[in-house]
Amino acid sequence: MDLLLKVWRQKDKKAKGKMEDYKVSGISEDSSFLEMLDILNNNLILEGKEPISFDHDCREGICGMCSLYINGRAHGPDRGVTTCQLHMRMFNDGDTIYIEPWRSKAMPVIKDLVVDRSSFDRIQHAGGFISVNTSGNSQDANAIPIEKNDADKAFDAAACIGCGACVATCKNASAMLFVSAKVSQYAYLPQGQVERKERVKNMVAQMDKEGFGNCTNTGACEIECPKGISIEYIAKMNKEYLSASISSEE
Ligand code: FES
Repeated sequence: MDLLLKVWRQKDKKAKGKMEDYKVSGISEDSSFLEMLDILNNNLILEGKEPISFDHDCREGICGMCSLYINGRAHGPDRGVTTCQLHMRMFNDGDTIYIEPWRSKAMPVIKDLVVDRSSFDRIQHAGGFISVNTSGNSQDANAIPIEKNDADKAFDAAACIGCGACVATCKNASAMLFVSAKVSQYAYLPQGQVERKERVKNMVAQMDKEGFGNCTNTGACEIECPKGISIEYIAKMNKEYLSASISSEE
């Protein structure tokens, strides 16, 4: 495949970025999107030019590091995949592909296609720990009864890899899908009960402090989430937050 790539280039956080054109040829449709960018970067290095910076780590849809806005969609045109799992067979020979970073005030561009997602780390830190006795006489995990429906919901919420596609795709740059998944994965389990109320209040407070927007229920986050996290979790988080706020006023 021969392709024209229009890629966002930005020297650093303060620089004014712009789209630049690059041609790549002979790309296999079996290549992943990131392998195609590797080929482009090899070519740029051989030409003595600066390679394009982009984030990646596991390249298996696990770590949540890869984060590209491709042809106006978070993680590109395929459903239920991260950028590293996107394959070139989703494109056609001769295509023009637009490649941009996530765009959100709370996740500023550091360089080219790399954004600073430490706001997500700070939200998780605000959630804190769970109180579980792990020394000596700790209870066997299998001896703690968990209702099947709750276990399934906690497991589904825990599938969130924190990639930030929900923020990138939301017109309000809201992080509520991410935060609600992180709140819910503990709220459904017995191990999460001790700090349940403080956790949701602290995480929501940190989310607001980071400058993320509010949710207006467009549902775009659910559609673009590579792990299929449902917006039902946002309703769950709102319920958790209301309940925690009312009980702390009593
Ligand atoms: S590089 Fe880890 S999810 Fe894509």
